Amino acid sequence: MDPEAWADVGSAEELARRPLQQILAGRTRIALAFKDGQFSAISGVCNHVGGPLGEGTLDGDYVVCPWHYWKFHCRTGEGEPGYEEDRVPVHEVRVEDGRVFVRRAAATKRGRKPHEPHPLARPPRRADGPIRVLGLSTTTMTADHPRYSTSEDLLEHALRHAGAELGCDTRLIPIRTLRFRECEGFYSKSSRACTWPCSITQMDSSDQIEQVYEGVVHWADVIVVATPIRWGGASSLYYKMVERMNCIQNQETVANRHLLRDKVAGFIITGGQDNVQAVAGQMLGFFAEIGCQFPQFPYVAHTRGWSAEDMENNQRYVQDSLVLHEGAAELVRRCVDMAGVMIRSTLGEHALVRGGRKGHELDTRAQLVSVATDS
Ligand code: FES
Repeated sequence: MDPEAWADVGSAEELARRPLQQILAGRTRIALAFKDGQFSAISGVCNHVGGPLGEGTLDGDYVVCPWHYWKFHCRTGEGEPGYEEDRVPVHEVRVEDGRVFVRRAAATKRGRKPHEPHPLARPPRRADGPIRVLGLSTTTMTADHPRYSTSEDLLEHALRHAGAELGCDTRLIPIRTLRFRECEGFYSKSSRACTWPCSITQMDSSDQIEQVYEGVVHWADVIVVATPIRWGGASSLYYKMVERMNCIQNQETVANRHLLRDKVAGFIITGGQDNVQAVAGQMLGFFAEIGCQFPQFPYVAHTRGWSAEDMENNQRYVQDSLVLHEGAAELVRRCVDMAGVMIRSTLGEHALVRGGRKGHELDTRAQLVSVATDS
């Protein structure tokens, strides 16, 4: 067996213990399957975004990618029925003297079935027109029995003001009206498994967080997020939403790609009990990480405080408060003014220096050299 052409990948007895594994034939990643007493080998690199096929599972004759579950036939490399053109290379396998050999050169070529890119994947470009203000309300309530919400009332007031007084286009998304899945942790498999648009959005056309992506990435200049305070934090719906927005931030980390430019965020936070500053801190941190700017005084808030439990009164106070409504209107004005500055300026055009950013490696070799020199 010519070692130039064939890689000895291990003992047949040991390799036969697992139905599927990721191995190396030299430097080539291979998904080695053992099924019905036979070894077979296909490329270990998925056609989608490079998932390690050999770390997946076998479903009948198909290798299932562990990242987003695309399937490839373990002997022909073809995609599942309907996607046969989407094929990964096949490698010949031989067993001799109890050793498994994989031919380094592939016997077939990789083929890609053209996939229509998801509409959200288009490059974000600001369309001409008035400043656009998106309101995201993260309070929740019984659908058939709506109730008054302090945070949503102030948000609606701010949007009315933006439309009527500032000439903006406005859109409100009550997040509770969307049906969408929780973030399922593709990022935890590999940062590259977290894709833009979110892998769930690409796989599941019924998932409606798409409306938030469309609004935040492609439509809005200003994003105003309203949340109630729940146990000292933002609402669980807020967290469910921002976890799904992690794919926007992750594009910065893994692809150095800014999906948000010249966008401004502001926040409305209301609750019966306190912790406004911690809630605001989280919101500011998250929206800063996805690339938003903030106006001066980027949030308005109201709470009754620790000793108050009379929520009926709290609702009435907010409902009747001219000061709070004026505060919400002025918040959106500051955001709109800031967005106007951003759109007219070149502030957002400079390349982002990566050092010190999340997921960016330090120049450790230089550090080591300098430490060695110092000592
Ligand atoms: S399904 Fe394989 S990388 Fe996405």
